[in-house]
Amino acid sequence: MVKVLFVCLGNICRSPMAEAVFRRQVRDAGLEARIEVDSAGTGDWHVGQRPHEGTRKLLEKKGIDWKGIVARQVTQGDMRRFDYIVAMDGSNLQNLRAIAGYAGSRPGDGEGSGAEPKLIRLLDLVPETKLEDVPDPYYTGNFEEVYELVEAGCAALLRTIRAELPA
Ligand code: 4NP
Repeated sequence: MVKVLFVCLGNICRSPMAEAVFRRQVRDAGLEARIEVDSAGTGDWHVGQRPHEGTRKLLEKKGIDWKGIVARQVTQGDMRRFDYIVAMDGSNLQNLRAIAGYAGSRPGDGEGSGAEPKLIRLLDLVPETKLEDVPDPYYTGNFEEVYELVEAGCAALLRTIRAELPA
């Protein structure tokens, strides 16, 4: 089982969007028995809440189920539990590195080796976009933009994971 955790700041806008979109893509690929999906936030302000209205409305418009997604804060245990931890922006990535305890993160320092998860920034998987960070719609209000970026990022992530799955 490959375990994937999407992480943003509040776990109510971007990472729950990614969780729902990726879950759908995984299901459409027939891989739900092989890929587990979750999301969390580096902050704790919205713990226990369902996704932001903007995320809920956008997902409903696209016919993607979000029910059952409840905000939680990322833990050190997540660093051991998940194989891929996917940050929505560079700030999330820095916070995750600090939580994982390898803030220096030189190549070969831990990332991707042994029990360490692969820490990835989502849009690094989408070289076609000039953006490095998924803009935070909590401030921009632009949930459509987030959906487009998340959809492309999740598709690239699924291709990456599929290439590594044993036959
Ligand atoms: P998210 O957006 O990280 O995409 O869930 C945010 C949600 C809440 C806050 C910031 C960003 N906040 O400051 O409460």
